[in-house]
Amino acid sequence: MADDAITLIIRDHRRMEDLFDRLQTEPENRPRLLEEIEAVLTAHNRAEEDEVYPVVVRTTGEVPQVRHSAEEHQEAEEILTRLKDCDPNSEEFEELRQEFVDEVKHHVEEEESEILPALERAVGQKRVRELGRAFSERREQELRRFGLGGASGRIPRQRELYEEAKRLDIKDRSKMNKEELAEAVQRAKNR
Ligand SMILES: [Fe+2]
Repeated sequence: MADDAITLIIRDHRRMEDLFDRLQTEPENRPRLLEEIEAVLTAHNRAEEDEVYPVVVRTTGEVPQVRHSAEEHQEAEEILTRLKDCDPNSEEFEELRQEFVDEVKHHVEEEESEILPALERAVGQKRVRELGRAFSERREQELRRFGLGGASGRIPRQRELYEEAKRLDIKDRSKMNKEELAEAVQRAKNR
């Protein structure tokens, strides 16, 4: 049986915390880890906002909390964009990394202690399972934009993406960055 929405959301939270730990302990892998964090965080946030939060709004009294949560998604993504622009060995990086991790952890705690229990109480297990499917489909769709297929999610390297773009004869491939390459490859495959 497929996993329910609450199980999937909590699993993403633990995965992000694991990535945050590695961001601290593996300075040499920071650029790659940031890309993975960006993909997982963005996919998770969009899937929650599109598939889960609207149901919470309709079925529980947690409307202000949901609005607050969606704002926190936005804030975390903005800090992450700044973090990606930073020299990974600078003091500024360290400060922003801490700010980002604190922001997401605070958000995760609120979600797990308020929003998710309220949802489960309001709609029951069957609906939470159905929502799991919707959450997971939306999440996958977003992950593919980052060139991350499937739940295991290894990010293909730029070189591999470039080779694939070449094989698919994608125009202007040499001018594209990694995200653009991943998107173009995905589009060509879907044709
Ligand atoms: Fe969230």
